Amino acid sequence: MSNVGEPGSIGVIGLGYVGLPLAIRLAESGVEVVGFDTDLDLVRSLSAGSSPIPDVADSALAAALAGTLRISASSSDLAGCETFVICVPTPLSASAGADTSSIERAVTAIAPFVRAGTLVVLESTSYPGTTEEVVAAPLALATGLIPGEDFCVGFSPERIDPGNRSFSISNTPKVVSGLRSCCVSRVRDLYASVSDSVVVASGVREAEFAKLLENTYRQVNIALVNEMVKFTGALGVDLREAIRLASTKPFGFEAFYPGPGVGGHCVPIDPQYLAARVESELGQEFRFVALAREINAGMPEFVVDRLAGALGDVGVGLTGARILLLGVTYKRDVPDMREAPAEEIVRGLRKRGAFVAYFDPFVDSWAVDGEVVDRVESLSGSFEPFDGVVLVTDHSVFHGQDYGHLGQVCLDTRRVLSGEGAIGL
Ligand SMILES: NC(=O)c1ccc[n+]([C@@H]2O[C@H](COP(=O)([O-])OP(=O)(O)OC[C@H]3O[C@@H](n4cnc5c(N)ncnc54)[C@H](O)[C@@H]3O)[C@@H](O)[C@H]2O)c1
Repeated sequence: MSNVGEPGSIGVIGLGYVGLPLAIRLAESGVEVVGFDTDLDLVRSLSAGSSPIPDVADSALAAALAGTLRISASSSDLAGCETFVICVPTPLSASAGADTSSIERAVTAIAPFVRAGTLVVLESTSYPGTTEEVVAAPLALATGLIPGEDFCVGFSPERIDPGNRSFSISNTPKVVSGLRSCCVSRVRDLYASVSDSVVVASGVREAEFAKLLENTYRQVNIALVNEMVKFTGALGVDLREAIRLASTKPFGFEAFYPGPGVGGHCVPIDPQYLAARVESELGQEFRFVALAREINAGMPEFVVDRLAGALGDVGVGLTGARILLLGVTYKRDVPDMREAPAEEIVRGLRKRGAFVAYFDPFVDSWAVDGEVVDRVESLSGSFEPFDGVVLVTDHSVFHGQDYGHLGQVCLDTRRVLSGEGAIGL
């Protein structure tokens, strides 16, 4: 491997949804980049120029590999890097807080290469205090160097929005922070090379908190409309239309829409890091998060109830009914299944004796609780109409389609279909 670990190069630790686009963007800016990941299959496929992330085109990866990006599964290739950016996952732990074990392993991997003058930046989302406790303190212990004096440490929350064609690393303002002012200027300079706008935080904890605030705000506001949609129909109100009207106010309102529940690795999870920290540190409950989580988690059941009611209106019971789910990933136009509410919908339908199949152009095969969910290859083929159809994920290919012929009842949880027959939540 040539160029690996050259002085001045940047090591990006973790090459997933966050790390891979960053590594490529840094390489595009001309700097030497070592992308390190512990997943051997991923490293093999990336090294061969194949990107598993839809937002990262194979051509962009190939261009970066032909330039200054090197991919490796061996931490020894990080030797000589002057900057490390940690982009590893932070799932929920068994106790519903942040599982920081991947960050801990990443810190162990880079520790032998941290010298006077090294910069270490954490991008992974976690509770306020993580950068100091899980990155700076262990590195100080391992190296004998003083963070903020001998080497620099910072936090810069990732704001990547998979599937979003309008906003990327370049044009999404990047919040940056550091333990000391010298750290802040190093982190600011790093991200100024890849982002049009860099926003300096007064402290690391504020930057960590800002990320949690962003996602808690989304979780709570989605829960607000999800709770409303449970009663607006009975009040004779079309909630979507009310949201459209409220959205015309040019200040003080942001539209959120009801749906089948929240998924992905951010909105349902990040607020939990904060809630768990508030509970463990202060013995206090973060009530908004608890309520929002409960409401959003109840949406798959609401979808099943709504479908059962609509089927009942045409004289069909759920037991033995054939139900087709359209779109099963957690969000539009991405293949990511993490925390996808479709899974809970399948459980609810099966519990009531329904047979479930799915169509999703992003998902080749799918099993829930070890039981395969049948895949419909194409919606244009001829097959016996289903009893019920539920649009769960609003992939672009579904927009404006009339799927009235696919089933007796068509429940559109995102209101993107056309046709008289489709009913909303
Ligand atoms: N995906 C998003 O939309 C998004 C947005 C904002 C913030 N985040 C946050 O960014 C972080 C990374 O998320 P992601 O979606 O990129 O995760 P991901 O699962 O897509 O990728 C993480 C990668 O890190 C690798 N990895 C795990 N442990 C490692 C280690 N010790 N050393 C090297 N590599 C290791 C994994 O193999 C994987 O390829 C998380 O904290 C997440 O909450 C994600």
